[in-house]
Amino acid sequence: MMAKIRRRCKRRCFGLRGDGFAESTQRIISIANLNPMAKLRIQFENGDPEKLIEFDPAKAPFHHDGKPGSILDVMLGHGIHLEHACGGNCACTTCHVIVKQGFNKLGESSDQEEDLLDRAPGLTPTSRLGCQAVIEDPNAEIVVVVPRYTINQVSEAAEE
Ligand code: FES
Repeated sequence: MMAKIRRRCKRRCFGLRGDGFAESTQRIISIANLNPMAKLRIQFENGDPEKLIEFDPAKAPFHHDGKPGSILDVMLGHGIHLEHACGGNCACTTCHVIVKQGFNKLGESSDQEEDLLDRAPGLTPTSRLGCQAVIEDPNAEIVVVVPRYTINQVSEAAEE
């Protein structure tokens, strides 16, 4: 019975000769490896439920604020809010996030970002501005925490 199913599978599903099932399985695995998806896990200090975004960095930008492929761009483009009072132009600190995993997978920070970060409440050694921290590696697995407090007085959430 199994031999009959395998023969039928080879002929109808894959059109292969030999061990079509094994070859096809290997082909599917190869295709999956060619299209890895970066992962961005977001935790919120205010207790909101954790979110996970899987995305292809090559498809950036996902939104119109922040550097293409930045944490801000990815979050907004997948319907997850992050404060961004200056529109993602590296001119405030409201998009401050703390990177818990994958810090070295992010694009390098500029002097301007470093200067701004000095003003961010709750600064840590792995703090980044969400609008400037770009995820380019399709194998990246980044975990960030969105702090409870920013220096922002007005939320853009109501304007979107
Ligand atoms: Fe203003 Fe990132 S949104 S610095």
